Amino acid sequence: MRLQIKKHNLNYDWHFTPSFDKNFIKEFPKSEIVNIPHTVTETPLNNFSEKIYQMISSYQKEFNFEKTKGKRYILRFEGVMEYCEVYLNGKLITSHKGGYTPFKTDITKQLVTGVNKLFVMVDSTERKDIPPHGFVVDYMTYGGIYREVFIEEQNSNFIDMAFIHVDYDEINIRMFIDANKQVSTVFKFNIFKGDQLAYFFEREYDLQKLDINVREKVYLDEWSLEEPTLYTLEIFMDDDFAYSDRFGNRKIEFTDEGFFLNRKHIKLMGLNRHQSYPYVGYAMPSNAQKKDADILKYELGCNVVRSSHYPPSKHFLDRCDEIGLLVFDEIPGWQHIGDEAWQEVAITNVREMIYRDYNHASIFIWGVRINESPDNDQFYYKTDKMARSLDTIRPTGGVRNFKGSKLIEDVYTYNDFVHRGDNEGLERPKSVTKKSVPYLVTEYNGHMYPTKKFDDEYHREYQVKRHLRVQNDSFGNPNIAGAIGWCMFDYNTHKDFGSGDRICYHGVMDMFRIPKYAAAVYTSQGIKEPFIKVASMLQIGEREAGEIKNVTVLTNAEYIKFYINDDFIGDFYPSDEYGNLPYPPVIIDDFIGNLIHKHENFSDGDATKIKNILLSIMRHGMKISLRKKLQMFMILKKHKMSIDQAAKLYEKYVGKWGLESLTYRFDAIKAQLVVASQTIGTYHTSDLHVKVDDVEIKESETYETTRIVIEHLDEFLNPLLYSIEVLTVKVKGPLKIIGPSKLALIGGSIGFYVKTIGEKGTAKITIESNNFETKIIEIKVS
Ligand code: GAL
Repeated sequence: MRLQIKKHNLNYDWHFTPSFDKNFIKEFPKSEIVNIPHTVTETPLNNFSEKIYQMISSYQKEFNFEKTKGKRYILRFEGVMEYCEVYLNGKLITSHKGGYTPFKTDITKQLVTGVNKLFVMVDSTERKDIPPHGFVVDYMTYGGIYREVFIEEQNSNFIDMAFIHVDYDEINIRMFIDANKQVSTVFKFNIFKGDQLAYFFEREYDLQKLDINVREKVYLDEWSLEEPTLYTLEIFMDDDFAYSDRFGNRKIEFTDEGFFLNRKHIKLMGLNRHQSYPYVGYAMPSNAQKKDADILKYELGCNVVRSSHYPPSKHFLDRCDEIGLLVFDEIPGWQHIGDEAWQEVAITNVREMIYRDYNHASIFIWGVRINESPDNDQFYYKTDKMARSLDTIRPTGGVRNFKGSKLIEDVYTYNDFVHRGDNEGLERPKSVTKKSVPYLVTEYNGHMYPTKKFDDEYHREYQVKRHLRVQNDSFGNPNIAGAIGWCMFDYNTHKDFGSGDRICYHGVMDMFRIPKYAAAVYTSQGIKEPFIKVASMLQIGEREAGEIKNVTVLTNAEYIKFYINDDFIGDFYPSDEYGNLPYPPVIIDDFIGNLIHKHENFSDGDATKIKNILLSIMRHGMKISLRKKLQMFMILKKHKMSIDQAAKLYEKYVGKWGLESLTYRFDAIKAQLVVASQTIGTYHTSDLHVKVDDVEIKESETYETTRIVIEHLDEFLNPLLYSIEVLTVKVKGPLKIIGPSKLALIGGSIGFYVKTIGEKGTAKITIESNNFETKIIEIKVS
């Protein structure tokens, strides 16, 4: 961003106490000092109740301020969960219902030059009058002032928001003006591409009108997923800088033949994301929010994310704009529709969401229904109307989970949980909507097959297959615009849901964003770099009867060359079963190849027969066909082999027992070259590997964080998923660990976040364990 409105940030050094009393407004009790983003209580990783953050708490910030004559001061809160009353110097100045949308108030009168006391009563109980509450909710709504607070210095006439939209060769700017004086004003508009001024023009308006539309011919490069070009608009009022925001030029269309961006058809493939993090719930600063967007785009290869089930952090959206990741932005809610007052809050949420988020190029649809609620035409005509009154360009949707729902919006957005493992992946749109309409699947899988990172391999691989099956159906049906799976990562939830430990293990990643096998379904379809991930560790103890019948290899290569102990077994090609996918997985189902031909003294014909008999026994046990039984009898007789000797062959070539060392190598081939490779096998050494997201962090308007992931890997760098090493983390220097400093690997890995503490320097993080050398990493805080 180039120029910015003068801001006085109020994110550091608040007094916080987890209770409220009217007297606190005058005299705040002895309390702890906290920074924003803040959660009213840190939680354990799991096994905690939603009750622990439900409280009425008090925050107070004392700050010095120097007022300038003639200026106006606007206090802005980006997000307070979920009801609050704000007092400045003892006087109630505003209140707000709803924890996911911003609010503001003009404090010019109450603000003084000198010391000011800002007091906020925060009610984070589940109030029945505020969405999503009123009945059960499958996620937690952690309390606190968890997004930024600041005061803006404005002129007496100022632009509160400008909606910027480019329609082919014309820019449309709709300015919402807050004016104290009704004077004629000259507006200057500068459009920048990076630092280059691309256009400028000016207009004069009389400020009797506070909602002003401006149009001007422009030719601006398009914002696309591959090249997300952003522009900055700066507006000056009578030569004073007044407003700036980023925007992109892109055309969005939905038809019953799919989704089009800049007239190019794009199959949407993505995941739902909650905004929760371990221990601190929603209270995470900008760089953690941005990292999630990066993970979705660059690690998971998604082109779309749904911000289930509420508007996300503005930082998350900023990053989606920058990297070209489409966003389905929706109002807060979950299945339940409350009374009229509650519905009013939801309608206001539509306004607040669009008003805040209009300029994000990444947002391609507004979700204006309460997720999975029943039809309620009266209510939904209003939410839809509110959206259209603000945005005539973007389509509306609203997520439902039943067939034949009345379509008030532009796109029928549907949670399709039809897939149960052995049936179709998705419903046919017409069977849901009755007529041809634009159609997008907004959830699938999730609770249909919860999967822990430490579940047995069969289970984890089955999660892969379910995601593959659904995406395969999505890619195979031109009437489906795309499918957004449930969900990106595991999350803490209410007592009514989850696995008994208050976690929904629905993610393709765990709570620390560490991938499960199913993550590779998305990566293999979406990323450009060569990719291979074998969804197995090829351990017989993980399989029924010790039989590894096949393994799934997720890859974007043309085919796989497969080797056992450097003996070539065969070339394996993408599976027809998932033929609609851009990159179907490769299923490997022969673990013998020509090994018997090579290593035993049989004729070629007999070696082939023996191999087929062994494979048949592996697949069907002793229920093999009579023909195979006869063949086996003949071979035993011919080679004077005992049953015991035959069993040894089985152990050697199927069970792979007794070999000094066993390695499986999977080479991913593209244009006749090995572009990626994975080796799995007997390991002799292993170690803890530590990865840090950023080796340098900068404090911004708030403290910032970075993530550290510790994995127990074998010498081939494959994760040892059942490792339970205990770790002690020590942090020295200008960082602090979020959550406990004693950790255990869960499913072979664990993550933690560290945060800055307002100091600069180099922090040293030491990770001690019982069985491995101590690991030390350094992170610079600048
Ligand atoms: C959906 C719901 C999500 C989540 C998911 C679990 O019905 O919309 O919020 O609960 O189920 O699969």
